[in-house]
Amino acid sequence: MIELRELHSNDEIAFRNANDEFNAHNPDFEFAFRFDCNTFTDYVQRVNGWSKGIDIGAFVPNTYLVAFLDKKVIGRVSLRHELNANLLKEGGYVGYGIVPSERRKGYAKEVLRLTLPFAKSLGLNKILLTCNDDNVGSWRTIEANGGTLQDKLYEPGMRVARRRYWIDLESK
Ligand SMILES: CC(C)(COP(=O)(O)OP(=O)(O)OC[C@H]1O[C@@H](n2cnc3c(N)ncnc32)[C@H](O)[C@@H]1OP(=O)(O)O)[C@@H](O)C(=O)NCCC(=O)NCCS
Repeated sequence: MIELRELHSNDEIAFRNANDEFNAHNPDFEFAFRFDCNTFTDYVQRVNGWSKGIDIGAFVPNTYLVAFLDKKVIGRVSLRHELNANLLKEGGYVGYGIVPSERRKGYAKEVLRLTLPFAKSLGLNKILLTCNDDNVGSWRTIEANGGTLQDKLYEPGMRVARRRYWIDLESK
């Protein structure tokens, strides 16, 4: 059973293993944001402060959640509490990734399903999710969780169109 929760100080080995796997096999996906603290305890404090708006820099307040299967970190979610102009076009409320070795097992669908109550608890009644038109795994994950396609945004300079979906949280 997958558990989705905030990061704890004693998660260091599992978290580093997942980060190493992303860096080795999927370096274009930023698994651990701003992972440059002196100690892991400092990092946990930093990450968990973002939901309170502490030290967020250019980010909007966000909740960083880690997905565990037994003791292994299999992915992470970044849940933004509000949208800015960029997130409205790219990023939406939720960003997620599953470690390469655990893909195609239904975990992204489950991780997104587990994210929805967190989003609802922020007082949101619907959330925007975006993904590239050619990211089949991502849009199937969103559709499996009830996402309704708003549009496919295309602007000059984009490699592919960006799908924008809304998930209604009323029934979640
Ligand atoms: C996209 C991603 C999260 C999917 O994770 P996953 O755990 O493999 O997804 P699931 O196993 O839950 O599969 C979800 C659906 O997508 C399909 N799918 C997953 N990867 C796929 C792929 N590469 N090609 C085609 N379909 C794919 C699955 O078959 C499933 O479809 P179904 O509901 O019809 O059975 C994962 O590939 C990833 O982390 N990618 C890098 C980061 C990323 O792109 N994040 C999303 C940013 S918008």
